[in-house]
Amino acid sequence: MLQNVLDTQKEVLNFEITNIESLEQFRIDFLSKKGKVNLHFEQFKSVPADQKKEFGQKLNILKNLAQDKFSKAQADFTSIKSDLNIDFSLPGDQIPLGSRHPLSIIRNKMIEIFNRIGFTVADGPEIEDDWHVFSALNFPPDHPARDMQDTFFIEKNPDILLRTHTSSVQIRVMESQKPPIRALFPGRVFRNEAISARAHCIFHQVEGLYVDKNVSFADLKQTLLYFAKEMFGKDTQIRLRPSFFPFTEPSAEMDISCSICGGKGCNICKYSGWVEILGCGMVDPNVLESCGIDSKEYSGFAFGMGIERTTMLKYQINDIRLFFENDVRFLKQFTSES
Ligand code: DAH
Repeated sequence: MLQNVLDTQKEVLNFEITNIESLEQFRIDFLSKKGKVNLHFEQFKSVPADQKKEFGQKLNILKNLAQDKFSKAQADFTSIKSDLNIDFSLPGDQIPLGSRHPLSIIRNKMIEIFNRIGFTVADGPEIEDDWHVFSALNFPPDHPARDMQDTFFIEKNPDILLRTHTSSVQIRVMESQKPPIRALFPGRVFRNEAISARAHCIFHQVEGLYVDKNVSFADLKQTLLYFAKEMFGKDTQIRLRPSFFPFTEPSAEMDISCSICGGKGCNICKYSGWVEILGCGMVDPNVLESCGIDSKEYSGFAFGMGIERTTMLKYQINDIRLFFENDVRFLKQFTSES
């Protein structure tokens, strides 16, 4: 009888479990109720008393051996089975990516366009003084031009105010650098305006300044034409209309041919085929002198434009408030942009 146990042990060792079916066969042959291990246990009763100990030990070894082999094979096959259940053709989980704010996209594009023709970037404070926002820019103390902008003044000190335009950075840069100066000043500006679809009390501008010897209006015009084509497409045309700003002489406002209808006329351009995009002009000699630059030796041009306005035109956005609400449904439409 002991020999039978040892034979079964050999069988267990030699049994090759190669798949789920043979695993089941192994279970039936050795570990089921009617399997060989159980049969040996049933024989235990009839084993002579003096052999019981040895028989019992061998039987336990056989039982453990069979059970270990089964558990190990079962673990192997079930893990392979679950691996095989994976459908490798399914798409992976998408990791949601953040996106740049449309105003940042357009500001970066403006910087990049002007970078290519040698403009660097400079910054100035948002909380400014009267000198940098008005006086040095040739606004006389009681000049009505000051009324062109509704300014947030600090109540206790009307000399301190929130800048109403980024032209203030022109002054800071000209005070601290010698020409040639070729720079761009992007930033946030503040005006005491009622919030509507077209206006906001906080918005963004990009100011440009070029001061050197012999800078002419032709340079200004060519620079802005280059910018318009790069920003809105190579078929874009520009139109300069005479205007007035205290800090430039002569001054102009620039229109571009409507990028929506291609100049044919639509509700964006109010059926004129043109949309206003920026103010510009030759830096007034008084402004150069205010900053200690000799206006007989140097001349320059400047321009300023709203980032919101340009972005609205570029993406056909019809309400400026969308930029400040941070509604993800609006913002995530710009994910493909850099
Ligand atoms: N600062 C003007 C504004 O906020 C825009 C502007 C006009 C800037 C003409 C300039 C310029 O540099 O030359 O409306």
